[in-house]
Amino acid sequence: MDDPLKLGIAGLGTVGTGVLELMAQHGGSFASSASRGVEITGVCARDRRKNRGADISNFQWFDDPVSLAQSDDIDVFVELIGGEKGAAKVSVEAALKAGKHVVTANKALLAHHGLALARLADQNGVALNFEAAVAGGIPVIKTIRESLLANTISRVYGILNGTCNYILTRMQKEGRSFDEVLQEAQDAGYAEADPSFDIGGHDTAHKLVILTTLAFGVEASIDTVYVEGIESISLADIEAADELGYRIKLLGVALKTDSGIEQRVHPTMVPKNTAIAEVDGVMNCVAFDGDFVGDVMLIGPGAGARPTASSVLSDVLDIARGAIMPPFARRTDSLKPYERARMRAHEGGYYIRLSVFDRPGAFAAIAERMAEQDISLESIVQRRPRSALPGLDARTEDGSPLPVVMITHETTEAAIRAALQMIEKEGNVNEPPQMIRIENM
Ligand SMILES: NC(=O)c1ccc[n+]([C@@H]2O[C@H](COP(=O)([O-])OP(=O)(O)OC[C@H]3O[C@@H](n4cnc5c(N)ncnc54)[C@H](OP(=O)(O)O)[C@@H]3O)[C@@H](O)[C@H]2O)c1
Repeated sequence: MDDPLKLGIAGLGTVGTGVLELMAQHGGSFASSASRGVEITGVCARDRRKNRGADISNFQWFDDPVSLAQSDDIDVFVELIGGEKGAAKVSVEAALKAGKHVVTANKALLAHHGLALARLADQNGVALNFEAAVAGGIPVIKTIRESLLANTISRVYGILNGTCNYILTRMQKEGRSFDEVLQEAQDAGYAEADPSFDIGGHDTAHKLVILTTLAFGVEASIDTVYVEGIESISLADIEAADELGYRIKLLGVALKTDSGIEQRVHPTMVPKNTAIAEVDGVMNCVAFDGDFVGDVMLIGPGAGARPTASSVLSDVLDIARGAIMPPFARRTDSLKPYERARMRAHEGGYYIRLSVFDRPGAFAAIAERMAEQDISLESIVQRRPRSALPGLDARTEDGSPLPVVMITHETTEAAIRAALQMIEKEGNVNEPPQMIRIENM
């Protein structure tokens, strides 16, 4: 039997300590399950004295991740530091150049530098594995790289950020405001002290770029992703969506269209009777539309020490077995240039919520602006106070604006934006219109 595969672990935080725990529990069985033993030989973090909740005295300590990456005593450099630049980037580059396999959970690094790192891995004949970088414990990278490789994938989408899903789920189930639930998520440790990266959709965008590159075999870039976060979602939207038969989820969607590839992250209405609508709380899911396999959806824990460690070690075990895959499923130099579909050309149904001033002709003017853009309405609901629809001359008793919710038939983003711009400009609404895209399922 070969000598054990030697790991250098850089980063002993949430994921790193999860890896230590998994190795302590199951490391001994890998010699039989992977035909080769696996052992940790070196570790690195910032503070040597910090209690890691595990005995690390048998491992060589490195203050500098680059020295660990280049150490003769490791075969695989496991990067669990995080961040798109700095220590993570330089140490991963150093490891690849030194001919070490790399396993990383770092979506930011891959979203920004994945292609350059993949080229470096190709040149040096080593693995660059990153199962943990997208949707934590869900085996999504291998599903695309191995199980679905014989398919042409036309769409990949999912709930890729547990913080956002937790907030939206709590708002919906408990009728509480965004701010209230965000505070609770921070107290429970589900949201960062500065949550803007998560709730602004940027974390989802990082994961989406990786999925797009893999699923479509193109050189996707983080700069080509359209991103909207969940900050503008109010309880009024959640309740209206519920009445109309929808749930609101933050989705990352990559879709092949006739004019190129759409990559978009935004709050999305999904029909209540679909599987994705039921993915609640901190759970994640990823779905694929393949030409032969059909629709496939994976649901599971998208973060956390143990699920993420499970993915990190699955990458390590592939290397132990000698299964070295090209990082993005094919030779990196065969990835095609990315052709971006403009967001204005996006086609779909839309949810629109307006707060309309209670005055004669206001609603008629709004209907006219929609008609001018050939936008037809599937349904229209005038919310509190309840009165006859379509409400052309509906009145509130105290003269306050009327909340009106519309669902459109399929139209274009350009048409919706033009109509809403005119509606806002004409002054019949007392706040900017809310618009949420509906995803076909
Ligand atoms: N947390 C999750 O559930 C999860 C899920 C999927 C993917 N990921 C990804 O996994 C990676 C790690 O995340 P995490 O949550 O484990 O982060 P974390 O808890 O903040 O841990 C980061 C670790 O890196 C070490 N570190 C930071 N700067 C360093 C430097 N310059 N040199 C050496 N060590 C350094 C820290 O050392 P000290 O401990 O000494 O400060 C710490 O041990 C990130 O890329 C993240 O996106 C995380």
